[in-house]
Amino acid sequence: MHENRRFAPPAALVAAANVTADAYAAASADRIAFWEEQARRLDWARPWTTALEWEPPFARWFTGGLLNVAVNAVDRHVDAGHGDQVAIHWEGEPGDTRTITYARLKDEVCKAANALAELGVRAGDRVMIYLPMIPEAVFAMLACARLGAPHSVVFGGFSAEALRNRIEDAQARLLITADGGFRRGRPSGLKAAADEAAAGTGIERVLVVRRTGEAVPFAEDRDVWWHDVVDRQPAAHVPEYFDAEQPLFILYTSGTTAKPKGILHTSGGYLTQAAYTHHAVFDLKPDTDVYWCAADVGWVTGHSYIVYGPLANRATQVMYEGTPDTPHRGRFWEIVQKYRVSILYTAPTTIRTFMKWGDDLPAGFDLSSLRLLGSVGEPINPEAWIWYRDHIGGGRTPVVDTWWQTETGAIMISPLPGVTDCKPGSAQVALPGIAADVVDGGGVPVPDGGGGYLVLTEPWPAMLRGIWGDPGRYADTYWSRFAEQGYYFAGDGAKKDQDGDLWLLGRVDDVMNVSGHRISTTEVESALVSHPHVAEAAVVGATDPTTGQGIVAFVILRGGAPDGGAAPAAELRDHVAREIGPIAKPRQILVVPELPKTRSGKIMRRLLRDVAENRSLGDVTTLQDSSVMDLISARLPAAS
Ligand code: WTA
Repeated sequence: MHENRRFAPPAALVAAANVTADAYAAASADRIAFWEEQARRLDWARPWTTALEWEPPFARWFTGGLLNVAVNAVDRHVDAGHGDQVAIHWEGEPGDTRTITYARLKDEVCKAANALAELGVRAGDRVMIYLPMIPEAVFAMLACARLGAPHSVVFGGFSAEALRNRIEDAQARLLITADGGFRRGRPSGLKAAADEAAAGTGIERVLVVRRTGEAVPFAEDRDVWWHDVVDRQPAAHVPEYFDAEQPLFILYTSGTTAKPKGILHTSGGYLTQAAYTHHAVFDLKPDTDVYWCAADVGWVTGHSYIVYGPLANRATQVMYEGTPDTPHRGRFWEIVQKYRVSILYTAPTTIRTFMKWGDDLPAGFDLSSLRLLGSVGEPINPEAWIWYRDHIGGGRTPVVDTWWQTETGAIMISPLPGVTDCKPGSAQVALPGIAADVVDGGGVPVPDGGGGYLVLTEPWPAMLRGIWGDPGRYADTYWSRFAEQGYYFAGDGAKKDQDGDLWLLGRVDDVMNVSGHRISTTEVESALVSHPHVAEAAVVGATDPTTGQGIVAFVILRGGAPDGGAAPAAELRDHVAREIGPIAKPRQILVVPELPKTRSGKIMRRLLRDVAENRSLGDVTTLQDSSVMDLISARLPAAS
């Protein structure tokens, strides 16, 4: 699609915008002073003495400052007289609802904090959270924050095996889970997987929320029900104030190896940038807006734009438990209509799914409350951008395409809705206070019109502070590629157009992006080779019209394994779901006799991607044996 239109911000939005063009000027005049100004949006029990200590690649922000993140997200709003304001309109998938005001949120968080303390949680202890999208997920995260105990939320769609690896890496002592959640019209269990994951690890207690009411195994000496332990606690809890660099959470994300990285975020800088970006990019007016981020709290988007950013800004928000197609495909639009949602933040893959379902669905609901739309997780193609604006935003709303990562903690590149003329498909400009560039392989910035690697050239408040337990990997993964220049390497390709606006082009490493979820090729490969019938496996991300990329696996079976066809493919797909989680299931598994390798034995994924995308093959001259590709192509009809 050739799309040259530009969409100027609506006049009403410009007139009342939270952030104007002056912010860019202020930030470029003095970047550190700009972030100090933003940090003053928070309540500090003691002000910081140094805004930034930068010993590349290690940053410390707002050192000497003391704050409590949960107090900033909850208590201070109640203290300021907003206790009756709704914090969360929660909508369960079966249609049950809960309305949680800030006063109620404060009580729930305090009770949960008291319960965690009773269960032995102390500042610095890691707490695992494996929950569906229910309010207790938010209560639990904030209770941990209140106690200075870093949480590590694991997406409920991950397998027992994936949860166990994370428990062990984080050396967590407490696990918070539920009997299950509702998904696609049915209860979907979590407790059995939680038990399997916890067995034999350092987990001492398991706190279980009752959500579905289904019977679940219960270890009397280890497990406790949330309603037994939390509900009887006093609703008062005296907060402790922590150093700005107190660890707030560890969130695991896929890298280029089979072992996920525990991305560590701390308190003061993270909350400053989460709150500022939410205020600036979504233009939130706490007294009138109804905000909805349709992500899961298991991903960084849920951390920064359901929990920390919006609550620090006193948002009224919607939280939804289920899938967009249950009980019908108009569910999202029904929710927007019901709560008069004014700001919606979702992923391109979801938008493309809605496009496939047809224009009539959203047209059947009153979406006139929407004034701003956001997109995150993967590049948004101009067709999807325009459809989103026209069919969801009524042709009125700006669409902000926000680029960031688990590692960056908060939005880095995005239009400002009251300032920027939006360009469909482009994330456009670094936010005020953020320094991004596109460089060539030698680290030299490319001119307008050029393409290369996206880098961040200055430290930012919400930047990751490291990889849990592995400082070497932190320096190596992000800071070694452009060590000479001292740039952070994001792992994304990008180009600058003639106006200097940024266009993100996807990952340049072995990380796939499937429906906005990061999955490493090596992680799926090691899951496949852990199956007794698989000798070797190579995995690529092939372009997919809905999910961005789809996982295509090429496997060599061991002697004695049943030959090609659908049966082993189905078995292997299930095996990957068991090892990692259903999100990592290959879309397609091709049984092949050989894999294309270079003379040094490296698998040439580029060629496999050509096969997976039905393209004619690229250069095969570096292959050790170029006839391999003929063998693979000959096997294609055996695909499942
Ligand atoms: C991709 C999600 C293009 C990118 C917040 C990045 C995007 C990875 C965009 C991080 C966007 C995220 N346009 N690509 N607006 N947003 N990405 O850690 O490849 O789950 O490196 O964080 O998603 O994924 P993560």
